[in-house]
Amino acid sequence: MKLIKKVLFAALVLLVSAGTVFAGGGSQGQSGKTLIGVVMPTRSEERWIKDGNAVKEGLEKLGYTVDLQYSDDDIPTQVRQIDDMITKGVKALVIASIDGSALSNQLANAAAAKIPVISYDRLLMQSPNVDYYVSFDNYKVGGQMGDILITGLNLNQATAAKPVIIELFAGSPDDNNSVGFYQGAMDKLKPYFDNGVLTVPSGQIERTVIGTLRWDAAEAQKRMENLLSAYYSGDVVLDGILSPYDPISLSCLEACKAVGYGSTPGKPLPVVGGQDCIVASCKSILAGEQYATVLKDTRSLGAATVTLVDTLMQGKTPTGLDTSSYNNGAKIVPSLLLDSVIVTKDNLKAAVLDTGYHTAAELGL
Ligand code: GAL
Repeated sequence: MKLIKKVLFAALVLLVSAGTVFAGGGSQGQSGKTLIGVVMPTRSEERWIKDGNAVKEGLEKLGYTVDLQYSDDDIPTQVRQIDDMITKGVKALVIASIDGSALSNQLANAAAAKIPVISYDRLLMQSPNVDYYVSFDNYKVGGQMGDILITGLNLNQATAAKPVIIELFAGSPDDNNSVGFYQGAMDKLKPYFDNGVLTVPSGQIERTVIGTLRWDAAEAQKRMENLLSAYYSGDVVLDGILSPYDPISLSCLEACKAVGYGSTPGKPLPVVGGQDCIVASCKSILAGEQYATVLKDTRSLGAATVTLVDTLMQGKTPTGLDTSSYNNGAKIVPSLLLDSVIVTKDNLKAAVLDTGYHTAAELGL
């Protein structure tokens, strides 16, 4: 219920003031309606399918025609899709990038054609031609990843006499969100590193060292396997993992299981969080394996984006945006930042099932 109120609030915040900014309205799709281009990074991750559907369905309900494309995590494909959309005469572009810095030419072309660009979930970097950013508060999301470990590992009860052992994973280095996730988590965990309660046997702590290109779960699994064989011989037992993304969490758990975690006395599965609240992680949480995840409701993000596009297409200026937090290297991008929710076994039913984010059937219940 709280989540739904937030969606409505986000939509209301976008209530408008007068003033025409973009051309809006005039451009027509095949059916004679205003055409909006929506580009998502990949179809192979559950969340982006939900995102794409939420934006498309929301816009169509308001009478827009939507060209929705998925880029197969391939930058040239994404470049081509955006070029095509500009040629087709879309009236607004909603872009979730693969590499946030790789689209500057396309963004310049969009600006020249007076097409407003909305950076969706991932910030488009190093370009002045980004008009709005709609996302979650990524630093806060990272803080929640830190909180998951603080609670799950009982760090407030632990002492430096028996340090808690963890390893760290970060997101894709070309995705600006990875910075917020890492910084938010590390700021929460810093006091426990400083007082010796937390230790990382591999010594791999810097974001550049622990990143996972394209959020690739197989790559993360390989890194976890290597860490386990290099630093966890003898009686060193891994207690927890900082993970920024559910598929990475699940792969790390697989790597741990393969060397006896969860099936050997004295070697329980490590505490691991995650992000995106995917079906497989919800099942794992219910089965007592993955400890928690962060739910970023794609329905809220989709609804906020639809309201923003509609506001612009009416020739109005959105208000109530954050105009200080997100500098993309070329400008501060006005942002709408939604709230996320930590999900554990205790609140999964209320946060995920009762809100309809996943159905009982999807979760195998
Ligand atoms: C990030 C996004 C995360 C996750 C990840 C992998 O940009 O904020 O929620 O989906 O990409 O796709």
